[in-house]
Parts: sequence; C-alpha cells; structure tokens
Amino acid sequence: MSSTTVAEFANELKKSTDTLLEQLKSAGVAKSAASDVLTDADKHSLLNFLQNSHGTASAERKKITLVKKQTTEIKQADATGKARTIQVEVRKKRTFVRREDGADGVPEVVEQDAPAQEESTAPAVDHADLARREEEARRQAELIRRQEEDLVEKRRLREESEKREREAQERAASYAAAEDQKKSEASLNKAEATEQAAADAAARAAVQTEAREKAEAESKARAEEEVVRAADLGDRRRKAEAEAAAIRNMMATPKKVLVAAKKPEEVKPAAGVKGTLHKPAVGSAVAKPAKPGAPGTTSGPAGAGKEVKSAKLSSSWAGDPAKKKELKTRGDTGAGAGRSTNWRSGPRGKRGGHDRDRDDHQQAAPVEARVIEVHVPETITVAELAHKMAIKASEVIKSLMKMGQMVTINQPLDQDTAMIVVEEMGHKAVVAALDDPEAFTDDDVSGQEAVSLPRAPVVTVMGHVDHGKTSLLDYIRRAKVAAGEAGGITQHIGAYHVETPRGMVSFLDTPGHEAFTAMRARGAKATDIVILVVAADDGVMPQTKEAIKHAKAAGVPIVVAITKSDKPDANAERVKQELVVEEVVPEEYGGDSPFVSVSSKTGMGIDTLLEQVLLQAEVLELKAPVEALAKGLVIEAQLDKGRGPVATVLIQSGTLKTGDVVLAGQTYGRVRAMLDENGKTIKTAGPSIPVEIQGLTEVPQAGDEFMVMTDERRAREIATYRAGKFRNTKLAKQQAAKLENMFSDLSAGDVKMVPIIVKADVQGSQEALAQSLLKLSTDEVKVQMVYTAVGGISESDVNLAIASKAIIIGFNVRADAGARKQAEGNGVDIRYYNIIYDAVDELKAAMSGMLAPEKREEVIGFAEIRTVFVASKIGTVAGCMVTGGYVTRSAHFRLLRDNVVIYTGELDSLKRMKDDVREVKEGFECGIKLKNYNEIKEGDQLEFFEVKEIARTL
Ligand code: GTP
Ligand code: MG
Repeated sequence: MSSTTVAEFANELKKSTDTLLEQLKSAGVAKSAASDVLTDADKHSLLNFLQNSHGTASAERKKITLVKKQTTEIKQADATGKARTIQVEVRKKRTFVRREDGADGVPEVVEQDAPAQEESTAPAVDHADLARREEEARRQAELIRRQEEDLVEKRRLREESEKREREAQERAASYAAAEDQKKSEASLNKAEATEQAAADAAARAAVQTEAREKAEAESKARAEEEVVRAADLGDRRRKAEAEAAAIRNMMATPKKVLVAAKKPEEVKPAAGVKGTLHKPAVGSAVAKPAKPGAPGTTSGPAGAGKEVKSAKLSSSWAGDPAKKKELKTRGDTGAGAGRSTNWRSGPRGKRGGHDRDRDDHQQAAPVEARVIEVHVPETITVAELAHKMAIKASEVIKSLMKMGQMVTINQPLDQDTAMIVVEEMGHKAVVAALDDPEAFTDDDVSGQEAVSLPRAPVVTVMGHVDHGKTSLLDYIRRAKVAAGEAGGITQHIGAYHVETPRGMVSFLDTPGHEAFTAMRARGAKATDIVILVVAADDGVMPQTKEAIKHAKAAGVPIVVAITKSDKPDANAERVKQELVVEEVVPEEYGGDSPFVSVSSKTGMGIDTLLEQVLLQAEVLELKAPVEALAKGLVIEAQLDKGRGPVATVLIQSGTLKTGDVVLAGQTYGRVRAMLDENGKTIKTAGPSIPVEIQGLTEVPQAGDEFMVMTDERRAREIATYRAGKFRNTKLAKQQAAKLENMFSDLSAGDVKMVPIIVKADVQGSQEALAQSLLKLSTDEVKVQMVYTAVGGISESDVNLAIASKAIIIGFNVRADAGARKQAEGNGVDIRYYNIIYDAVDELKAAMSGMLAPEKREEVIGFAEIRTVFVASKIGTVAGCMVTGGYVTRSAHFRLLRDNVVIYTGELDSLKRMKDDVREVKEGFECGIKLKNYNEIKEGDQLEFFEVKEIARTL
C-alpha cells in the first residue's frame, strides 16, 4: 500500500471522505479532494495526530481486538442428489475499547463478516454512520427472528420424523426399518427444502464431516460464553449473539438427536472399536437415501446390491462348491437378512456389516479372472460341464441358448459343442482322449499306476482252412473241439488258456475260411505271438498268405507249425520253400521264425512247438499291471436267449471282477457273471485270460475295446453317445448308398435287388456272413443288407422282412414261434444255415435265378423261295423248298437276298399242301406266309432260327 487516494482510504477505514479530510487537515496534511493521493508519510502523520489527540492504545487506551476466522467445507447433495461442495468462511472480529473519557464504558463488540480492520474510535463519530449501522442491525435481527421461526418449525418436523423413525425401528426388524428410515429422512429433506437458508443449514449439519465434528465442542463452549456475555450487551447485540448461538446449536442438533435416537449406548462401544468409522457412519445414516454416491453411503442398499452381484460372480469362479456356498451365504448376509439385523442393532452394527461385505468383495475380486483348463471328453452332460467350469448349469444352458441350442441340465453334449461352450465362458478347453479314464473322472486314475507284472503270452493260431489249427489246439488242450464243429470248420474265434508245464499260455483259435478275414485280423491284433499253421500236405494257401499279412501288420513274431506231418504225403521242405517266398524265413535259413513239424494225430513235435512259443514270449518280456481296472478286447459276442448279451473278452491289463462296470464299444453294463472257456464260473480274471462276461446291455462288436469304469452313469453316457454317433454315421452311409443306388439304378436300368436280413448266433459270424453275401453282388443283381444282428429271429425281423421284401437268413439261430407264424402268414422266406459256405452257395444259386436269361439265336434251317403266290384273301405266300434243317411254325426268319439280310421277322403261317403244319423238314416243299412282309421275290433265301433263353449263373 504505497499510495492510495483519500476516498479509497476512507472506504478502507469505513469513514466518510469528509471526516477523513477533516482529520487529515487537523493532522496537518494538506488534502482537499477525495481524489488526492495519500502517501505512507501522510498516513503516518495522520496516525501520529490521532494518537496524540487520543493517546496511544497501549499507554492511554485499553483496546483489545479479537479476530477469528473459521473456514469449513460442506459436502452436501442438492435436491437432485448431486453432490456439491460449499466453502464456508466465518470471520469474527471483536474489539473491546475502554474509552478514556468513560462516556461509553461498555466494551464495544463489533462482529462482522469483514476483513479485520483497525476500528477507529475517534470521538467524532459519524451519526449518519451510526444510524446506518443501527438500521443494519435491525434488519439483521429481523432476519434472525425469521430464521429462528424457521428453526422452530424445522425442529418440530425433525422431531416428528424422528418419532416416526423410532417407531419404525421398533416395529420393523429388517429391511422395512431401513425403508422407513429412508422415508423419514426423505420427509426431513422435504422440510429442509421449504426454506433455502434453513435447508442449507440443516443439510450442512447433516453432512457435517469429521473436521467440523471436532470443532463442535469448541463452538458450543463459545456459544455458552457468548450467551453469558450477551446478557451484558445491548438488545441488538444480544440478538446477534442469540442468533449465532442458535445457528451453532442448530448445526449441532440434528446429528446429536439422530445419534440419540438410535440407542446411544451402542454408539460408544462401537466408536471405541472403530473410532474413525463413527462419524462417517452418522453422516451416512442421515444422508444415505439422498446421496448414493457420497462417501459413507456406498455400503448402503446400493452397496448391498453390488454385493449380491459379486456373490454371484464369486460363485462362478469359486473352485469348489463348498466355497461357492460360503460366498453365497455371505453375499446374502450383506444383502438382506444380515443387513436388517445389523440395522436393528444400530448404525454401528450396520456399518460393521457393510464393512464385512466390502471386505468380502475385496477378497473375492482378484479371483474373478481365473481361467480353468477344462478337459472335455467325447461326451459330457451340461451339469458336469458346468461343474468343471465351476459355474451354474444355467449359465451353460444360457450360453447354449445363445448358440441356438436348447438343452436340459442332464443332456449329454458332444465334444465339439462342449468345447465351444468352454471357450465361450473364457476358459481353456482341452480335448480329453476318449478311452483315457483320466478324461472321465479324477478318481478313475486310482490304480492305474499299479506295478506291471509278468503275464502269460497270448498266442493266435492262424492258417488256411482245414490245415489243422483246431486239431492242434485240441491236442494241446486235451479237448475235442474240432470234432464237434459244423461242417468241419471253425466259424468263430475261440479263446482258451492252457496251463503247460512251462507256464500258462492263452490261445486264440481263428477260422481258416476266407469269409473270416475280420476275425483273423482281430486275432492278430490281440495277440503277442502267431502260430502259423501250414499243412505239410497242402502247403501255402491263400489264407496262409493272408495270415502272414495280418501277423506282419500286427508286428508279432511268427512260429510256424507244419501240421499233418504224420501224413504220408507230408512235405515239410516244400512248405519251407513256399514260406520263404512269403518272407517267412526259417531260423535254419537265417531267418527269425522257428519251424516245427507237428502232428495232432500222434502228438509229434507239439512240445517243441510250445517250447518255441514260450521262448518267443520270454524274449518279449510281456508285462501288465494286475492291481488295476481291467482293459481288453472283445473277441466274440453273442445274444443268448437266457443270458442276454454275452461277450468273450480277452483281458489285456488289470483284473476284471464280477460287479465291475464295463464299457465295451457302444455298450456298457455291470459284469453279472464270468465264465472261463470251459463254462466254469469265476470271480476274477487277470491279464491274458479270456473270459465270457454277462451283464452288458447290448451285444458289443467283436473287436471292440472294453474297459472297466468306476462310474456307471458315465459308462452309460459314453456308450449312448457312441451308439448315437454310430447310428448317425450308419445313416449317413446308408443315405449315401441309397443315392449311389439311385444313380446305378438309373444307368443300369433294371438292376435286381436281393434284400437280405442276416441273424446269426455270434457277432463274428454275422459279420463274416454279411460280408460274404455282399460279395455276391454283381452288376445286375445286388445284395442289399437290410439288417444284420446277433440273436434269434423275432417277429420284428419278420416285420422288417415284410416291409423290405427281404429274405431272412438264420445262421445257427431259429425263428421263434411268433416269428414263424408271421413268416408263414406273409410268405416271408426264412432259410437256416449252420455252415457259412452253405449259406453263401445257396444264395448264389438263388441269385442266379434272378439274372435275366440270356437269349440266343439258334439257326434251325434254310429254305429257298421258288414261287410267289399272291392270293387276294390271304396276301403274298412264298412257295419254298426247305434246303437244310427244318422250319417250324414258331421260328423266326431272316430274309436274305444275295446274302444280304433284307428283313427279319416271324412266320405267319406254315402250310404243307393246303394244311397248316407245325414243322417241315429238309427236302420238302411248303407254303410260308411271312408276318407283315410281302416284298418277296423268287430266289430269295430264308434262314430260320429259334430264340432260346439260357439261364445264367453267377
Ligand atoms: P478251420 O478252422 O476250418 O480253418 O480248420 P482247422 O485248421 O481248424 O482244421 P481242423 O483242425 O478242423 O482239421 C481239419 C482236418 O484235418 C480234420 O479232419 C482233422 O482230423 C485233420 N487233421 C488235423 N490235424 C491233423 C494231423 O496232424 N494229422 C492228420 N492226419 N490229420 C489232421
Ligand atoms: Mg479250426
């Protein structure tokens, strides 16, 4: 403040310019106009003058000036709920002056919202100024009075609402209480809104923050002090003091009342526990409904809602259901029941509840992004998939719905769909190998790490038909299987385990007939060693070669047994030579296949053969876990009338027990009974043992893999799924075949179809027969396999035959009474066979009958036209001489003129003299009328021929 004008300085001092000019004049500073500039020196002169004229404050005058400035900040939501921050600055200045002359002994108190200033108390008091101040004070008093009235009204409303609130608290135990509270608070807010000033004050009180709370005690004390002081003051001042105190009281009131309303005794302990939370909680209790976004309210209803959501979320990523449940309960506590109980116990309790909620939320939040690696097996139900992802099944259903698939909770999903769902859920999908038990259940793994122990070798006997395979095994087993075989041939795979002096060996006997290729392939697949049987008197034959191929494909060692070595025409050397050509080289020639000459009649060489086999087995060091869930191969399967589906299985690892749940290809079941190859009941079967099991729901396919599972439900699911998949592929194939047929039908014109239904005793035979029959198809006659199955011929088979006009072939099975009756009634052809080649041959013959007969022309004679008669009634008649052979009435002719065929046709009539005759022989004359042809000439030649239909064979 280096320089200023008189007017400005006067304004600063709150004096009129004239007064100041007068004072300046008295002080000896020459200033005459308001616009004159005052320097610091001028001001000092004035000060000195005034001090001289009145005496200095310290020496002669008692003057005390108290200046007080208080700044607070209020956060307050307006009617729309928007938060506002209001800066409040309260400045107070009090100057107590003891005047020297004692004219006014009362200390002067000036309180104003103005910057502190040096109050001039010069005797030359401006009267007009005084009057103006008095007027101002009156106005102020009036305002205060009105505010007081408003305050009274407001307090009344507040009390009312508090009363209601208390009632509500008493009445409602839970959420209702909170609702009432909100309502009462809302009405409170409404009341506040009636007068802006009052509303502001109340709101300010309502949202008073911690800082102001601290100031409370101080301000209260000040208010009291001031009230006491006010008693000594004049009317105006008392009023001002009263107003200030009232405002202060009012500011403090609402929170005090509210706290008191809610069991004040609880306030203290809670505050003691969590002192810092105390105040915001009070604020939230009041202002919660109006300001959802304000601090202290986030844990209100909105917070609770959020918690529910988070609980839901947490359930989706919580690993185990127990944890999920726990989280859910906690969420509920935050949202509903827990909240109301907390409410009942006061705001502190409520607050505490919310804090816990928030803690939960914070705990849970980081887990949300967890990505689970989900192993998806070939089939999985919706519920299981959801469980794997640790989410609710409804989430999976929802996601599938989005993909346009309506599924139920127990519906099995295929792998592809399940994997899409997993990826969709933000997890990682991993394809689980179908037959890997680990893919299905975690507990299935148990026992899979069992120690591998040495096991018996599985030996398959293969070779051409009738080379003596079964006889060889019969000798080894001391059995007589070959003798009882229909047609003298083996028609299904046989499995036996034999205790030899050198340990146990399991044998698989395969058929040698060409039809059973699949069985041989299966035999080779299941085996460790192949005994290749070649008859010494017959040598290498087609199925010998085939057997070699199978063995080589399976990569198993071959031991050659040259059978029938007792026979006089046996020639082992020839067999050796022929086998070398097939790349089966004897050890003596430097190869790796032992050759043993044997005879099943005399038993010659059989011990040596077994020795060789066991030697090979030793080299292989065969091992398998014993104490594990069994796994193996279905060797043969059949449908038994009494026992239901029966399967012969070869256990490759583990131990099969009765009662085990087995999955075999498309079927499953619990092992009800187990029989060994002699029909003896057994309870357990270890590695390399062939057993017959009962209890499967359907007949499995020979060659199917089987495995024991711990979960029957899952076994069923997989079986069902595989069956469904198989049906689909079969259907697709059928449709493709139909389409193919359609085109072939179009091109071939009249292809004859032979629809056939095959029912067989065992699955292997059924398959072999069906394939053999299908091979009979030619371009003109096609075998159509309508249905092939294992089991007796039932009515439904006959119905199918009626519908498809098929013939039924029963292989080692018979039709039941109902089926027989129905077949007779509908003319359905049922043929029974027990030897595969009979069935094939008969069908071949039957199909031959369906071939279009061949038409062949056979020239029977010649004639020469000697004369031509034209009779008006009859037409042109040729008078002929039969020059060779004969001519018949039904013969066809070719008219030749100069050895060129002019016309081909039939005779109309053949006469000898006047009589119709059937035949005219060489050297006789006859009259011939040609059908539809009259252009004949003398000298034309006629060649007669007959069209013969010759039946064809396939
Ligand atoms: P499929 O199973 O139909 O392929 O025939 P297979 O190889 O089992 O022959 P199988 O054992 O049925 O014997 C066929 C015929 O050969 C029977 O009549 C046996 O008696 C006869 N046979 C088998 N082995 C010998 C043998 O070592 N010596 C003589 N002399 N005859 C034998
Ligand atoms: Mg045999």
